[in-house]
Amino acid sequence: MALAVASANSESESEDRTAHATLRGYRLGDWQAMHALDLICFEPVFQFSRGDMRGFAETRGAVTVLAEAQGLEAQVELAGFCVTQLDERTGYVVTLDVAPAWRRSGLARRLMAEVESKLHSIGAEEMELHVFTGNAEAIRFYEAIGYTQAATAKDFYARSLHALLYRKKLPD
Ligand SMILES: CC(C)(COP(=O)(O)OP(=O)(O)OC[C@H]1O[C@@H](n2cnc3c(N)ncnc32)[C@H](O)[C@@H]1OP(=O)(O)O)[C@@H](O)C(=O)NCCC(=O)NCCS
Repeated sequence: MALAVASANSESESEDRTAHATLRGYRLGDWQAMHALDLICFEPVFQFSRGDMRGFAETRGAVTVLAEAQGLEAQVELAGFCVTQLDERTGYVVTLDVAPAWRRSGLARRLMAEVESKLHSIGAEEMELHVFTGNAEAIRFYEAIGYTQAATAKDFYARSLHALLYRKKLPD
């Protein structure tokens, strides 16, 4: 059965939902649910096309982790995911998406710990990512998990939409 995206109306269901989400690696076809969640998580200018999402998730060197959970009527839902790439000794975070109903329950922290660990095991020594200068929630999140601002990338997303480059050294 195709993976559905977690519904947005169940935020108050549980205080510690993350314990009920299971992390797993990418399976062929997952990009469709990932793309649907990306449309919920980002404004149009920051969204990936279907082709981009599939390409990033299925390209050689990609490390993609999904968080899935049991939804209503025993349906398996996509609660979040993270797509990364290994480039030489650097793990690059292509995107990180958590469904609104699952936010602030530690899911992104788990997803990032998992991709960092996988990337480290295949040779990454540091992590890198870009985040929109106006995305205060994501900036708070990355700083909370040990990333530090390294540079500004002007017009990174589009004209006048700048990014901050963040880095984190992985433990030896
Ligand atoms: C940013 C995002 C991935 C965070 O996901 P999350 O699962 O809610 O994050 P976590 O619950 O693991 O948060 C861990 C810590 O990060 C910080 N944090 C996360 N979201 C925050 C927010 N909205 N405001 C302030 N701090 C926040 C907190 O320190 C939090 O710990 P706490 O809840 O114990 O205080 C999520 O909000 C999201 O998907 N946003 C839309 C897509 C996006 O912007 N992705 C990143 C693009 S680069």
